[in-house]
Amino acid sequence: MTDLAKLFNEHVQQRVQTYSSILNDCQFDGVVISAGVPHVYFEDDQEAAFHPNPHFAHWCPESSPYHLLCIKPGDKKPTLVFYSPDDYWHEPPSLAHSDWTGHFHVVMVKDMDQRWQQLGSLSNFAFVGPEADEARKRQLIANPRNLLARLDWQRALKSPYEVRCLELANALAAKGHKAVKDTFAGFKQTGSELALHLAYLQAGPMSETDLSYNSIIGINEKSAFLHYHAKRQHVANPQTMLIDCGALYRGYCADITRTFAKDSAHPVFKEILKGLDSIQLKLVDAVKADASFLSLHKSCHEQIAELLLQVGVLKSCDKHTAVSQNLTFNFLPHGLGHMLGIQVHDVAGKQINERGDEAPPDQEFPRLRTLRPLRSNEVITIEPGIYFIPTLLDKCRNADSSNYFNWRLIDELIPFGGMRIEDNILVLKDSRENLTRKFIPF
Ligand code: GLY
Ligand code: MN
Ligand code: MN
Repeated sequence: MTDLAKLFNEHVQQRVQTYSSILNDCQFDGVVISAGVPHVYFEDDQEAAFHPNPHFAHWCPESSPYHLLCIKPGDKKPTLVFYSPDDYWHEPPSLAHSDWTGHFHVVMVKDMDQRWQQLGSLSNFAFVGPEADEARKRQLIANPRNLLARLDWQRALKSPYEVRCLELANALAAKGHKAVKDTFAGFKQTGSELALHLAYLQAGPMSETDLSYNSIIGINEKSAFLHYHAKRQHVANPQTMLIDCGALYRGYCADITRTFAKDSAHPVFKEILKGLDSIQLKLVDAVKADASFLSLHKSCHEQIAELLLQVGVLKSCDKHTAVSQNLTFNFLPHGLGHMLGIQVHDVAGKQINERGDEAPPDQEFPRLRTLRPLRSNEVITIEPGIYFIPTLLDKCRNADSSNYFNWRLIDELIPFGGMRIEDNILVLKDSRENLTRKFIPF
């Protein structure tokens, strides 16, 4: 048995126990979890790339639709009804080369209707998945909030198998990031966002469906769009570049960002980038169980305020005024990070207990979605950024706070866009493990 197979075995055993106790507590006799259905575009016969129901992916590293997983408290092995139709338009999904199926009682079916028949009586069962109407027709309780809250609360905690998958996703993404760094370094008078994207895929090698999200690669001013997806083929005078790109390993996501500036870029932009890197590392060092993510976010704003005052982008105030007057928000309009796992923006960032209660919004940062104290074995991203975003800055030019901004310098920096540095961090009792820097030290 490989190390990963051993870890998967323990992961499934742990899931069997956790589900038994959650189902007993919620007073269900069992649960059916569907792999999900593909999204078909309106009035079309084309489908979006398939993403499995994350509750299904938590058990099975299989990324095809329509399978049903049935779990009953006390059963050692869940039943997996695996849908594999006779088809010649598409290759039917197969388990022939899967190393994980021994942990399930597998029933193969070719027919959609046979899937449910294989499961027998489902009295007092819950259902988790998108086919809620179909489940209700069969008298199952579809997506009950109390059950989903309990499952999410547990899913935020990663088993050693899941941590290993996240680490391997980081290792794969690292190959792409290294290739992109070198490719960008080779650009002289012109650059290409598409060439960077292709270099990333080639290095894996990966296809688009091996990515954990649509890659974000912006040269110069486009790096200030937080989620920029165009891939321009010809960009004159490339000076700065932001790449936010991940990879999938057995359904687990890496989510990594790096920013590069050429020697010829604005000296203040380069100084801020250096400063942001040390801020990011300091914030990573503050991650540990029981640390409040909200406090980390606030500390990030204070440190960014200090940096912007030091380089002269902000002026005539102290760091506390810069944060409390929302000046720094204009340079960092997103949260410091988020939970990471099967979903890029994983579950339970606001949840404060297994019942599903949520932390109240913070008064200073009301839109923050990751707010609560961290727990050992959660994986989070730490991704501070500093951007020169014209649409946000323009609103400040005539505001009362306008005097705090050094508009001459800001106008010089706008063409260089923005920067973000993002690592994936495993939370431990009194420390943390950086799953990204071990593969991408830069
Ligand atoms: N790649 C999306 C994010 O960093 O949240
Ligand atoms: Mn992220
Ligand atoms: Mn990202």
